[in-house]
Amino acid sequence: MDPITALLDDVLEEMRGLESGEPAAYIPELADADVDTLAFAAVGPRGRVRAVGDADTEFTIQSISKPFVLALALAERGRESVLQKVGVEPSGEPFNAISLEPGTGRPANPMVNAGAIATTALIVGDDVDTKTGRIVEMLSAFAGRSLWVDESVYASESATGDRNRALAHLLRSHGVITGSVDTVVESYFRQCSLVVTVRDLAVMAATLAFGGRNPVTGVRVVEEAVARDVLSIMTSCGMYDFSGEWLLRVGLPAKSGVSGGLLAVAPSQFGVAAFSPRLDQHGNSVRGIAVVETFAERFGMHLL
Ligand code: DON
Repeated sequence: MDPITALLDDVLEEMRGLESGEPAAYIPELADADVDTLAFAAVGPRGRVRAVGDADTEFTIQSISKPFVLALALAERGRESVLQKVGVEPSGEPFNAISLEPGTGRPANPMVNAGAIATTALIVGDDVDTKTGRIVEMLSAFAGRSLWVDESVYASESATGDRNRALAHLLRSHGVITGSVDTVVESYFRQCSLVVTVRDLAVMAATLAFGGRNPVTGVRVVEEAVARDVLSIMTSCGMYDFSGEWLLRVGLPAKSGVSGGLLAVAPSQFGVAAFSPRLDQHGNSVRGIAVVETFAERFGMHLL
């Protein structure tokens, strides 16, 4: 084990004792997660992937899909068109809040569910297969390998997705979404059900860290301006109603998901990711936060 990997392993083992929180229960398939799973990965400028713990465990990406679908929307439509449909202000509200601007109905930002649904609506394609196909292609380019949808998690989300469907209908009533609500929400459920490992998330984070170029494959996935816009929004909105405290404590753009994944970006230095299914009251991974916070502290990565 090289010295950096050994240090990562130390940080991981220190956090194993944290046993608070529960896996998400509102999506039945997620409630069965093995709560002891713990993994961390980091990817540096030359594309070397360092991973410790249960780094090959697969889980669904959930809300961590949101910044990457935002990247696709920005690449396809441009910043101004995206901003017409979704804001960039932190909502200070839970991820599933009815977070719509009075009057326009524009969701607060693309990181909460309402904003993510509006973002998915912007992706080119009038049917679920076309939209999802583009999304899978983009997220796979970020990860540097072909990702796939977990059909049973997707079915579970779709069967219990009334709140997201309601949000989509509200968005449609304001004209934020035009066209079929079903197409948009089913595409959104499929994007959330993409299967990843902590290595994939670290490579995806690293692709944002290095200006939109995947440091493992060498492929330019998005323009630098798109990567910068995504990181800016992750900085203010990526951790929901914990975003301010996260910025204070850790100081890095980040995004969490309800299956227990978390990624963070140290621009031009590292992309990192953690996975552990027990969540705090905000829907963020308890051990994931602790691991990334400790890593950022040890390596002096706070941006400010
Ligand atoms: O739409 C949902 O509720 C889930 N598919 C994703 C939510 C999520 O990951 C929030 N993260 N903490």
